[in-house]
Amino acid sequence: MERLFSSRIAALSPSPTLALNSKAAELVASGKKIFNFAVGEPDFPTPQAVVDIAIDSLRRGRTRYGASGGGKPLRDAIAAKLRRDNNLDFSIDEIVCGIGAKEILFHVFLALLNDGDEVLLPAPYWVSYGDQIRAAGAVPVTVAPPASLTDPNGEAIDFAGLESAITPHTRAIVINSPNNPSGYMLDHAELTTLAAFARKHKIWVIADEIYEYMDFERPHTSLLSLHPDLRSQFILINGLSKGFAMTGWRVGYAAGPKDVMDMVRNLESHSSTCIPGFIEDAATYALNEGRALMAPAIKTLDRRRKLTMMALDGFKFARPDGAFYIFLDVRDISRGRSTLEISAQLLNDGVAVVPGEAFGVPGFLRISYTLGEQELLAGLERIKTFLLQP
Ligand SMILES: Cc1ncc(COP(=O)(O)O)c(C=O)c1O
Repeated sequence: MERLFSSRIAALSPSPTLALNSKAAELVASGKKIFNFAVGEPDFPTPQAVVDIAIDSLRRGRTRYGASGGGKPLRDAIAAKLRRDNNLDFSIDEIVCGIGAKEILFHVFLALLNDGDEVLLPAPYWVSYGDQIRAAGAVPVTVAPPASLTDPNGEAIDFAGLESAITPHTRAIVINSPNNPSGYMLDHAELTTLAAFARKHKIWVIADEIYEYMDFERPHTSLLSLHPDLRSQFILINGLSKGFAMTGWRVGYAAGPKDVMDMVRNLESHSSTCIPGFIEDAATYALNEGRALMAPAIKTLDRRRKLTMMALDGFKFARPDGAFYIFLDVRDISRGRSTLEISAQLLNDGVAVVPGEAFGVPGFLRISYTLGEQELLAGLERIKTFLLQP
């Protein structure tokens, strides 16, 4: 039999961050000491109260199928959260929940895109956007960052570059603030420039706000709250993974125009069906408690952020306003090696970091500062020694 595959899916590569983490985990299992700066999750446990709600719910028999796209209590909690935290008014039929922000995003791309449509991705961008867009038959168009990416007062996105990337096929732009991998947060001026751009070209704005609660330098602002006229072309993506240390629970959601949300809900109904009921109950509780539930953990992360910045004083990196990443610019000290090579060498040296290639920007290394302070400082010393050796 001639073996034919979907050319769309055969073209995808595995998530490089997950691959790197598996490699680091293998080395740890073989007894090697690894400073793991490659993780994409907080090192805090899920708050005990959230765990207790899930256990209770299981005991009460919440073990059956639930509503596709999320039950009413969960969507009520999300609508209340969007009002409280983001000054955004969405009715519950404009909200759809799924198995993590990752799955919801995938379904949003499937709902919006046709073959050959183009989606703008200001780099650096999160690893899965490009492959999800390709799997939907569309084309990710990377827009390189401006030279000012590492300037604390400079712009994080190359707006002139965005303009020149527009074609008749452009359908959407994905923005992500606080940003993975660079940590930047878009300020009001940048959000307003993006809004004007989307308005002018009549394209979708898909705003991934999953690191919202890690907003150290200024309060997180959703573009739609500043520019409510964009409501019919704006889709918000969020989830509980990062803000509530619930990565393994797999709860994400989208809010946007009802016709798109109906399509996403249909996709949910034909794929994962529903979020498990006991997880819905726990997520509803967490959302209703809000930021306060994680305040001490967020404070700890901010302290680690400052320690990391201090330890890396003298190096260049993107402005680390939020999330839990430092995006280190090693172009001047790479001595001809790619960052793929540098990260492989660093792993042999006992340090896992993610090369910028994974995020569309070679020459940078992503460092997650979600390690305990002693481990963090020791690992950073190891990175510095490695990078500065003659
Ligand atoms: C920017 C960004 N968006 C979305 C996700 C996916 O989150 P979830 O765990 O909800 O699928 C991640 C996870 O790493 C992320 O970094």
